Amino acid sequence: MRSSADMMPPGDEAGGDPSIALRDEDFSFISAFVFERCGIVLGANKRQLVYGRLMRRLRELGLVSFAQYVARLREQPDAELDSLASAISTNVTSFFRENHHFEFLAQDMLPALAGQPNPRIRIWSAGCSSGEEPYSIAMVLAEVLGNRAPSIARVLATDLSVRALGVGKQGTYPLDRLQGISEQRRKRWFLSGRGGNEGQAMIVQEVRDLIAFKQLNLLHDWPIKGPLDAIFCRNVVIYFDNPTKQRLFARYAQLLAPGGYLFLGHSESLHGMSDAFDLVGRTIYRKRA
Ligand SMILES: C[S@@+](CC[C@H](N)C(=O)[O-])C[C@H]1O[C@@H](n2cnc3c(N)ncnc32)[C@H](O)[C@@H]1O
Repeated sequence: MRSSADMMPPGDEAGGDPSIALRDEDFSFISAFVFERCGIVLGANKRQLVYGRLMRRLRELGLVSFAQYVARLREQPDAELDSLASAISTNVTSFFRENHHFEFLAQDMLPALAGQPNPRIRIWSAGCSSGEEPYSIAMVLAEVLGNRAPSIARVLATDLSVRALGVGKQGTYPLDRLQGISEQRRKRWFLSGRGGNEGQAMIVQEVRDLIAFKQLNLLHDWPIKGPLDAIFCRNVVIYFDNPTKQRLFARYAQLLAPGGYLFLGHSESLHGMSDAFDLVGRTIYRKRA
């Protein structure tokens, strides 16, 4: 996945071609399409970004104008959605990103849930990108619950992007993606690739077995049975508009058990968006009982 430091760069004109212009009507169609299908708002300030990112896609497709690309979107909206969303949004992620969430999971949330009679722990990584987030959750589950984990805990990992999910399902990462992970965890939860897989590390089966990866658009219906104990939706809603966020957070509140947790990204907040939750930690919210 792309490894730039943050979500969307302010502008990206890489690959520009002066003979190919992004006309107003093409930009309007593309931004309306992306908003309707993904909830992502592309204001006028994102025009250069759209241009730069989609020029690469035009080249891949052998198209010579944005008008041709728009025609393709009109003819095959579903087929092109994944590539368009991947080009426009970012899949940047990492293992144990915003580590205080995983510390909270290990030290507060899981011990309390595991101590209940007949525990059944369900966690959703919504917008999981290439899998680093759900694998980090599953490693903590395995560490805290030990051999009880497979019988009592599950992680659902979903994303819009089929490509990103493909990486997650494979569970194999270049060694440099493991940088933020302690030596102890690397040894316990990863296998080093040999032969053709030299330079790669694969997540051990015990952790993989705790996760189900599924494609899901957060704007559509969710075939998910609640109640859930926690939802990680981090660095996903940052480009959604407020009404879209409000609807999403209301649906999260419905799906969570009373006392369930919602984890947001470092620059995201429920402030003015939902009154169903209390703030209980840094970007950690708890559904009111
Ligand atoms: C920056 S990544 C965040 C990954 C991870 N949650 C983290 O914080 O490291 C944002 C992810 O949200 C996904 N996404 C964006 N809009 C979405 C939507 N409408 N439905 C589902 N996933 C979406 C993107 O495909 C991308 O993989």
